Amino acid sequence: MDLKQQLQDLLEQAQNVFSKVNGQNDLQERKAEYLGKKGVFADYMAKMKDLTPEERPTFGQTINEAKAKINAFFEDAKNRIETAEINAKLQSESVDVTLPGKEIVPGRKHILTQVVEEVEDIFVGMGYTVKEGPEVESDLYNFEMLNLPKSHPARDMQDTFFITEELLLRTHTSPVQVRSLLENTNHGPLKIICPGKVYRRDDDDMTHSHQFMQIEALVVDEKARLSDLKGTLLTLAQKLFGDTREIRLRPSYFPFTEPSVEVDVTCYKCNGEGCSMCKGTGWIEILGAGMVNNAVLEAAGYDPEVYQGFALGMGVERIAILKYGIDDIRALYTNDLRFNRQFK
Ligand code: PHE
Repeated sequence: MDLKQQLQDLLEQAQNVFSKVNGQNDLQERKAEYLGKKGVFADYMAKMKDLTPEERPTFGQTINEAKAKINAFFEDAKNRIETAEINAKLQSESVDVTLPGKEIVPGRKHILTQVVEEVEDIFVGMGYTVKEGPEVESDLYNFEMLNLPKSHPARDMQDTFFITEELLLRTHTSPVQVRSLLENTNHGPLKIICPGKVYRRDDDDMTHSHQFMQIEALVVDEKARLSDLKGTLLTLAQKLFGDTREIRLRPSYFPFTEPSVEVDVTCYKCNGEGCSMCKGTGWIEILGAGMVNNAVLEAAGYDPEVYQGFALGMGVERIAILKYGIDDIRALYTNDLRFNRQFK
C-alpha cells in the first residue's frame, strides 16, 4: 500500500475515533495515541532515514498535513467535550427562579425580656442605675438583714430552696437592697433597680412557678419620702398600663418595709368600671412596696435618723400576664415559638 493510501486510512480511522471520544480521559488517551511522541506517527518518522534526501521534504510535508488534520479532529472533539461539560454544569446548577422562596423568620426578644427592658427604661429615665445580684444567696442577705431573723413567721411567706443552712436560692430580689446599701460605703444617695430570677418552693400550675422573675427598686437618701414613692408608682403604672391609669395604696405587711403597701392600678380593660379582668373591683394589684424599715437601714450601718428610703418589688411574669392577657404562666417558659412570636 502506498503512503498516501495508508495515511488516508489512518485519517478516516482517526476521524471516526475522535468523533466518538467520550470525556476528558478518553480524549487525552486518544491524543497520546495519535499525536503523542510514541503515537502512530512515530513509525512514519522512523522511515525517514530510509529515504533519499530528495524524497524527504515531500514525505515530511505529507506527514505534517496528516498530523494537522488529526489535530483538527482532536480540537473538534475537545470543543465538543468541553461544551458538553459546561452544559451539564449549567444544567445541574440551574436555579428555578419560579420556586417559592424560603421565608426568613427573624428572632425576637422573649416577652419577659421585653417587659424587663421596658421597666428598666422607665426607671433609667428617672435616674436609676440597673444592678444585678447572685441567684445563690446567703440567708443573711435574703432574710436576716431584711429584718427576717431565723424564727420569723413571715419566712413562711416565701417557701425556700435551701442549699445549706446558710445558703439558698434567693426567694426575692430584695437581698440586692442589702448588697447595694453595704456597697454604698459613703452613704450617698442610692437609686437602683435590680431585675432577676427568684425561686420559691411551689407546685407549678397556671398561676405558680417555682422560678420566676422580679424587679426590685430601692431609693435611699436623706429625704426620700412616702410621697416620692407614690409619685414613682404612679409614673410606673401609667408608663406600663396607660397615661390615664390611677393607683391606690392598700396597707400591707413586709418585714423589710414600714409602712408597707400593696399597689393597685385602675383596670385598663374597663377603666375602673368593673369587669372580669379586675373581678368586678375596677382595680388590679400590681406590686408590693413600702418605706425601708429602720431595722434594715440599721443592719446595713445607716442612721435611720438621717436616712430614709423606699423600695418596691414587682413580679415580671405578673406584669406580662396582665399586659398581654396571658392565661397560663407556664406559657412563658415552654418556648413554644407560636406563643413567643405573638409579641412584637
Ligand atoms: N420582696 C417582696 C416580695 O417578694 C416584694 C417587696 C419588695 C415588697 C420591696 C416591698 C418592698 O414579695
